[in-house]
Amino acid sequence: MRRKVVAGNWKMHGSRAMARELVGQILAASPGGPEIILCPPSVYISEVVRLCEGSALMVGAQDLAERDGSGAFTGDVSADMLHDVGARWVLVGHSERREYHAETNDMLARKFDSAQKSGLTPILCVGETLAEREAGRVEEVIGEQIHAVIRANGIATFENAVLAYEPVWAIGTGKVATPAQAQEVHAFIRSQLAREDANIAGLTRVLYGGSVKPANAAELFAQPDVDGGLIGGASLAASDFLAICAAAR
Ligand code: 13P
Repeated sequence: MRRKVVAGNWKMHGSRAMARELVGQILAASPGGPEIILCPPSVYISEVVRLCEGSALMVGAQDLAERDGSGAFTGDVSADMLHDVGARWVLVGHSERREYHAETNDMLARKFDSAQKSGLTPILCVGETLAEREAGRVEEVIGEQIHAVIRANGIATFENAVLAYEPVWAIGTGKVATPAQAQEVHAFIRSQLAREDANIAGLTRVLYGGSVKPANAAELFAQPDVDGGLIGGASLAASDFLAICAAAR
């Protein structure tokens, strides 16, 4: 059995006051069931870690530097630093990083490796654009996003990683993939891992992200290869996020 995961990606939203209120509301409900990860903007990680102390809630970063260690890389935040302030997870290759920061599959394979070396669990985000879907290239695009990481780091690195399928056309658009569309791609993702190692494929959690809301979460999470969700907009409202967590029980 793969334990479900619900991760909230706050993106570039929030403030210290918002973090205190949102985390307070989530803690007050003491949600049980899935593993729950909050990914605030990096400047608020310390604050959220402090707020979550002593609870089962975990904290993740939204991105990390491509390079290990320290050095003259102005503006970058290393995996070691994220771990030092209490993050234990990190999103790698969110489509907004791929699009607005030109992050390539090779670059992301290095970030994935750097995260693991520092004790962070990477959540590798993959997904196709609408144009790629319409051109029938879903498997080609996602296959390459996964295999770039496997080629660089080996299949065994997926023993300590999570995948997230986020169709770009469903992110922040209110246009959610149907449960059948999600299941089809999730099964494909698992088949790509299984080509290398069936055991790892069976154990790796694959989350769905893209307009997950309380009203559609249960149906998505009921699919056999959907192991939880990566939630954007709905992770900013405690009641929505808690309802989604409840759907992942
Ligand atoms: P939305 O849930 O707002 O569509 O965002 C999904 C996402 O990108 C989470 O990483």
